[in-house]
Amino acid sequence: MNETSGQGQNQPPASPVKAKVAQRGPYEVAVKAGDRLLWCACGLSRTQPFCDASHKGTGLKPVRWVAEKDETVWFCGCKATGGQPFCDGTHNSLPAA
Ligand code: FES
Repeated sequence: MNETSGQGQNQPPASPVKAKVAQRGPYEVAVKAGDRLLWCACGLSRTQPFCDASHKGTGLKPVRWVAEKDETVWFCGCKATGGQPFCDGTHNSLPAA
C-alpha cells in the first residue's frame, strides 16, 4: 500500500452549504404544548426563527420541532448551534462579522 492508495477516501465533503447568520444570538419564543414549528436552518427566512420557504435551492432544510409543554424556549439565531433548533451558546464563539 502506498500513500496514494485510498485517495479521496478521507477528503472533506465538497464545500458544504453554509447557513447565513440571521442574528448573533437566540430568539426567545413562548410556545404552547402541541405547537408544530419549523425552525429556519438556512438563515434566509424573513420570519425568524421560523421557516418561510426561503431555503429552496440552498440544499438546506428546516428542522421540525413539536412543543411538548407550554414553556419559553430559545431558538438559535446564528444557525451554527450544535443542538438544532436551540441555542447552545455557539454564537458566543462566532468570528467577528
Ligand atoms: S444563537 Fe446560535 S448558538 Fe446561540
